[in-house]
Amino acid sequence: MAGRLEGKVAIVSGAGSVGPGWGNGRAIAWAFAREGARIFAVDRNEAAMTETVAKVKEVGGRIVTHVADVTKAAGAKAMVDAAFAAYGGRIDILVNNVGGSEPGGPVEMSEEVWDRQMDHNLKHLFLACKHVLPVMEKQGAGAIVNISSTSGIRFTGSFNIAYSATKAGVIQFTRALGVAYAKKGVRANTVVPGQMHTPLVEARLAGQRAGGDVAKLIETRNKRIPMGFMGDGRDIAHAALYLASDEARFVTATEIIVDGGMSAKCD
Ligand SMILES: NC(=O)c1ccc[n+]([C@@H]2O[C@H](COP(=O)([O-])OP(=O)(O)OC[C@H]3O[C@@H](n4cnc5c(N)ncnc54)[C@H](O)[C@@H]3O)[C@@H](O)[C@H]2O)c1
Repeated sequence: MAGRLEGKVAIVSGAGSVGPGWGNGRAIAWAFAREGARIFAVDRNEAAMTETVAKVKEVGGRIVTHVADVTKAAGAKAMVDAAFAAYGGRIDILVNNVGGSEPGGPVEMSEEVWDRQMDHNLKHLFLACKHVLPVMEKQGAGAIVNISSTSGIRFTGSFNIAYSATKAGVIQFTRALGVAYAKKGVRANTVVPGQMHTPLVEARLAGQRAGGDVAKLIETRNKRIPMGFMGDGRDIAHAALYLASDEARFVTATEIIVDGGMSAKCD
């Protein structure tokens, strides 16, 4: 039986992860490859993609890696040009997955960090879309999936003002794009992950939020979630897979929240 993304060419940005295991981008590359997509994996850290390549190969998938900083205009253009060339001149799917938080509110956060957060979480969507949309429009088909966060729709426990603002921006950027391109065959949707157990928990968040105590951070995060546990990158990947596939042909300019019920809860 053909895979759900058979033959499609998919750019996945942030396709590595900060550590070993199921980061969102890595899991997206794996899940898409398992369903027959040809993966163009992009990360600024080549080594971070080693495990991604291994996971894609495990499921018999095809993957080309590309090193770029997607927050830079030249990096974004080079990424799209290389993806277009890699698999015979088409791009069917773009997943803008790069992102991450820096702590603090307007008082504690420097202007430099604020600006960097804008680039890291939002500007790269604009840059990638600038170059991918003309390709998709010419094809008369394409699917864009952007990765936001429940921090973009709720206060989820940590004050990270720029992250909240940019992740809200991801959602509205995508809605506007989806409406504007609806008649051109290009769909745009967002996956909104809640608090996930990705490698980030051990690599950075435990230090930032729990004095390095990983078990304590996991307990705090689990407690906020009605289901009582954090999902991992594969849960995000499966939502992205649906949105990227033709099964979602009537779905555009909207979001899927993947958070174990957290954002529906009030306490
Ligand atoms: N982990 C979570 O709990 C969680 C929750 C909500 C939303 N998210 C979102 O999911 C996405 C992925 O998160 P993750 O925790 O799986 O990521 P991660 O930090 O493990 O991996 C991100 C990858 O992106 C790469 N990268 C960073 N900046 C880049 C740049 N400028 N150009 C190219 N590559 C770059 C890194 O090298 C890394 O390999 C992010 O947008 C994040 O905001 C994560």
